Amino acid sequence: MTPFDFAPLLAPGLPAAAAKWNGLAQYSFVGGNNDPDHVPVDRLIAAMTAVLQREGTTLATYGLDSGPQGYRPLREFLAAKLRRTAGIVCTADEILIVSGSLQALDLVNGALLARGDSIITEAETYQGSLNRWARLGVNAVGIPLDRDGMRMDALASALDDLKARGVRAKYIYTVPTVQNPTGTILTEARRHEMLRLAGQHGVPIFEDDCYSDLIWDGKRPPALYSMSQDGGVIHIGSFSKSIAPALRVGYIVAPWPILSRMLPLKTDAGSGALEQMVLGEYCPQHFDAHVPELNRGLRKKLETLMDALNEQFGTAAEFDDPKGGIFLWVKLPDVVDTMKLYKSALAAGVAINPGPE
Ligand SMILES: Cc1ncc(COP(=O)(O)O)c(C=O)c1O
Repeated sequence: MTPFDFAPLLAPGLPAAAAKWNGLAQYSFVGGNNDPDHVPVDRLIAAMTAVLQREGTTLATYGLDSGPQGYRPLREFLAAKLRRTAGIVCTADEILIVSGSLQALDLVNGALLARGDSIITEAETYQGSLNRWARLGVNAVGIPLDRDGMRMDALASALDDLKARGVRAKYIYTVPTVQNPTGTILTEARRHEMLRLAGQHGVPIFEDDCYSDLIWDGKRPPALYSMSQDGGVIHIGSFSKSIAPALRVGYIVAPWPILSRMLPLKTDAGSGALEQMVLGEYCPQHFDAHVPELNRGLRKKLETLMDALNEQFGTAAEFDDPKGGIFLWVKLPDVVDTMKLYKSALAAGVAINPGPE
C-alpha cells in the first residue's frame, strides 16, 4: 500500500523536519543536561509519596486545588526563595508555573511580539531564544558583551538608534546572571544603568534567570526585577538547572496586568501536576542544601574540562573561568571553522555547540 502523503497538507512556514533521535554522543557538551549523580532521586521519591498520599485526590481537578497558575505550595516556595536569594518581593499570585522556561519564552513572546517588531538582546545568546525570534520574524538587535555582561554604552547607542528610526523595541532580553553562553554576570552598577536606559526609552526588560542558583560562591547581584521601580521587568526561571530538566517546570514572575495577558495564551490547561507537586513538597525542606552540593559537582566537572582543554589545546583554546553555570564558552583561532569542527568532533563521539548556532 502507498503510505499516506501528508506533504501537500502541511501548514506553510513550518520549521524543517526533525531528525530522528540517535542517542546522545559519547561525550556530550550540548544542551542544558544536568549531572545524573546529582538528581536527588531518593528525596524526590519520598516527596512524591508523601504529597500523593496527602493530596492525590486533587488530581481529579484541572489545576489541582490551586487554579490555572500552578500548584500553590510551589508558588509560595518560589515567592519566599526569590525574596531571599534575588531580592524579589512578589506574592504567589504574581507567579505562573509553566512547562519549563521555554514555555515562558513562548508566553512572553506571544503577549508582546508581532512580525516585524524589534527586540534587543545580548549579541551571543541562547539558541532557543534566537530560534523563536527568527521564526516570529522579529528583528533581534545584538549588543556586545564584555566580562561584566552586556555593554551599557552599546545598549544606549542601540536604543538611540532605534528611536531615531521611530522604533520602540518590545523588550531588552537578557540572561544577566551567568549568561548563556558566555558565563558572565551583569554587575549591579550595569543593572542600574540598564534599568535607567530601559525606563528612559519606555522599553521593558525580559530577565531570563535560570542559572542564578549555580554560582560557585553563591553570591548573586539582585535580580533586575527586584531593582525596578516601575514594574517594567518580566522575570523567568526554571528548575531545569537546579534540580532536573526533564521535570519541565519553570515559572514567570510578572505584575498582574501583564501576567494576566500571558495566562490566556497558556492553552494546555496547566503544566503537569505530578512534577509541580513533587517540587512543592521537596523544595521547602531540601532545595537550599541541594544546590551547594550540585554546585560542588558542577565546579569539579568544569575544572576537569578546563584542565583537559589546557592540556590538549594549549593557548589555541581561550576561555575565562566562569563564576558558575553549566557551560564553558571557548574561543578558537579565526582559522578554525567551528561548523566544520563540530561535525568532525561529532563523528569522533564529542558533541559541542558551534558558536554560529
Ligand atoms: C537562557 C535559557 N533560557 C531558557 C532555557 C530553557 O530551559 P527550560 O525550558 O528547561 O527551563 C535555557 C536552557 O538551556 C536557557 O539556557
